[in-house]
Amino acid sequence: MIILGIETSCDETAISVVENGSNLLSNVIRSQVEIHAQHGGIVPEIASRAHVAAIIPALQQSLNNANVKIEEVDKIGVTFGPGLAGSLLVGVNLAKTLAYIYKKPLLGINHIEAHIYSSWLEKDNFSPKFPLICMVASGGHTELILMKNHGEYQILGQTKDDAAGEAFDKAARVLGLSYPGGPEIQKHASDELDVSDLGMPRPLLREGLDFSFSGLKTAFLNKARSKSAEIGFDLTQDPQLVSRMAWEFQEAITEVLATKIERAVNLSGAKMAIVGGGVAANARLRQRIEDQIKQVPVVIPRPGLCIDNGAMIAACAYFKGYEHNIELDVNPGLSIEDNPISNYL
Ligand code: KG4
Ligand code: ZN
Repeated sequence: MIILGIETSCDETAISVVENGSNLLSNVIRSQVEIHAQHGGIVPEIASRAHVAAIIPALQQSLNNANVKIEEVDKIGVTFGPGLAGSLLVGVNLAKTLAYIYKKPLLGINHIEAHIYSSWLEKDNFSPKFPLICMVASGGHTELILMKNHGEYQILGQTKDDAAGEAFDKAARVLGLSYPGGPEIQKHASDELDVSDLGMPRPLLREGLDFSFSGLKTAFLNKARSKSAEIGFDLTQDPQLVSRMAWEFQEAITEVLATKIERAVNLSGAKMAIVGGGVAANARLRQRIEDQIKQVPVVIPRPGLCIDNGAMIAACAYFKGYEHNIELDVNPGLSIEDNPISNYL
């Protein structure tokens, strides 16, 4: 079964071809990062226009790399939510057009659910054991989800304010680092500079399964301001201080994320854990999870499959038994609990 996966929910135009739900034949990602970096974050209208410009070349490249003709594709999966409406529309419109012209089954895919299915692409290291705990941490979402089976999800905890990736992006901005902030924070983080007064709070660390990152963001901004006042110039001009601040921030946020995954595993009696979303690419988080969670196997896809990609859309589509008709519309606020359970293979 050959599936074309199309992803345009945010700022990557991504198209992949995947065989039998786990064999990656091509994975084309046209990133808009350089365009949005000039604005310090994603500008929705610019994102939609950039998707329109990139999507046909991405399709051609993806089919070429896979050595597959569009006629040979068995199903078309496309993200229809959650995400930016104008961005989602570009991918959904391409998927509908291809499905109509080539008479292919069309499947609208939930972006958060697809991040979970990235683990299925790690076929050599992965055999699912339900129930399992998934944490999806991205630019727009931080959710702890109990996955009882394919398509059966219960949200156990989520952020009350900012998403983890959003917090990384904002902290990077405070430090004068570029967008997206997560990889920048990771690159610069270092505890070489010996200072003891930069410690950051760990919001809700000891309580429940929800997250809150806006207090951490404010504490970080306040600390940056007071430190700049203390040294008499903007701390963004001091690379060592920037590195230490980045390290403190990364320590705080990764400790909270790893601890909550562990708590969710313990409380739910899950048999394994899966981590996905752009923040799961973070090396410190991956290491903490490996050190901290020993009671069940944990799968974190390779970093290139944690960030947005079309392969996870195709992997997820493989397990669906239903088809959408040509009236499929985007749903920017789609929840993972909206999935129709009975429609899975
Ligand atoms: O899943 P994703 O690619 O797109 C959304 O669905 O939002 O996640 C993007 C987010 C951004 O906030 C980015 O800063 C963060 O993931 N991110 C990281 C790393 N790589 C990407 N955060 C921390 N460390 C990283 N290495
Ligand atoms: Zn994502």
